[in-house]
Amino acid sequence: MIHQMNRPAIAHIYPEHLRHNYRLLKQHAGKADIMAIVKANAYGHGIELVAPVLFDEGCRLFGVTDAAEGRQLRLLLKTEKAEITLLSGIFDRQDARMAIDKHLTPAITEPVQVELLHMENFRGSVWLKVDTGMNRLGTSDAKALTRQCQKAGIKVRGIMSHLACADMPEHLLNKQQANAFTILRREVTPNLPASLLNSAGMVSMPEYCLDVVRPGIALYGSEPVADQPLGLKPVMQLTGGVMQIRDIPAGAQVSYGATYTADSSMRIAVVSTGYADGLPRRLSNRGYAFFAGQKLDIVGRVCMDYTMLDVTDVEIKQGDTVEFWGTHIRANDVARSIDTISYTLFTGIGARVQRIAEYSG
Ligand SMILES: Cc1ncc(COP(=O)(O)O)c(C=O)c1O
Repeated sequence: MIHQMNRPAIAHIYPEHLRHNYRLLKQHAGKADIMAIVKANAYGHGIELVAPVLFDEGCRLFGVTDAAEGRQLRLLLKTEKAEITLLSGIFDRQDARMAIDKHLTPAITEPVQVELLHMENFRGSVWLKVDTGMNRLGTSDAKALTRQCQKAGIKVRGIMSHLACADMPEHLLNKQQANAFTILRREVTPNLPASLLNSAGMVSMPEYCLDVVRPGIALYGSEPVADQPLGLKPVMQLTGGVMQIRDIPAGAQVSYGATYTADSSMRIAVVSTGYADGLPRRLSNRGYAFFAGQKLDIVGRVCMDYTMLDVTDVEIKQGDTVEFWGTHIRANDVARSIDTISYTLFTGIGARVQRIAEYSG
């Protein structure tokens, strides 16, 4: 019998950890509803593995980026009971038609979006997305946009804004944005649901949970505020398999550019995970992997398909599995070591990496 073995670069996804995180966030949200942010393929975790679990947990509000992601999610969930918000709104008439066809809820920021929806005779609801100081996407004239919606027969379902510095609880901008949002709500949409907080906001400004909170990263298990951990569990574990073990003499060099030179004779493991799988090249000569209770240094440059580890004096063999992030090495720690955030690690997982749901552990 031929035993088919896939290349072992795997993102193991733990649904039980996702459930745990959702329940924990639900407690923190109090009376507010949770809009689970599942954009960008559920932050790289695989929307098909994540969204049904959240729906099963009772989540009925989901946030994605655009109409294409919204359509994909609607087809996946196979129910109209989930409300799917498009956080970037719509871009053209085709998006407007998709929003009608798949009952999607765009978050709008520009008059042209209302025009596009009106042209296609959209009869659904929209969120108003307002800017309160981040100066990213959001209208600065919520009143005019509301009036335009009314004229076009489009229902405004609520008002939302986004915090720039929620992961820094002491930052002055948090309070300024919250105050600006409070005033806007009162003036423009006094009776409509309001939503301000992402994951970090739920930790740093819980008094602003309001009607809907929009956690993303916390669902996937990354603590959003470093020194106020919630007890989240990592949903993704990225692993690779040892393809070859080699002994090299003192003075031998490893990988592209020969940037690593062995001080003394040593043993190297060649692992089947590279930057095309989402292991950042910046971990070259800097990061590590976890195996059997120990951290193994990455030596030399991370390649497209391979990464080499120092396994001198380690009992490891061909076929063994090492972890790059997950339970033993937190994605936040990996990210911090190369001056990035876990969001980029997760969303950087390559298309060719298998995402496998794991029901134990
Ligand atoms: C508008 C909006 N709300 C909520 C989120 C979720 O943020 P986080 O993953 O930090 O919880 C995002 C993510 O970027 C967003 O753009």
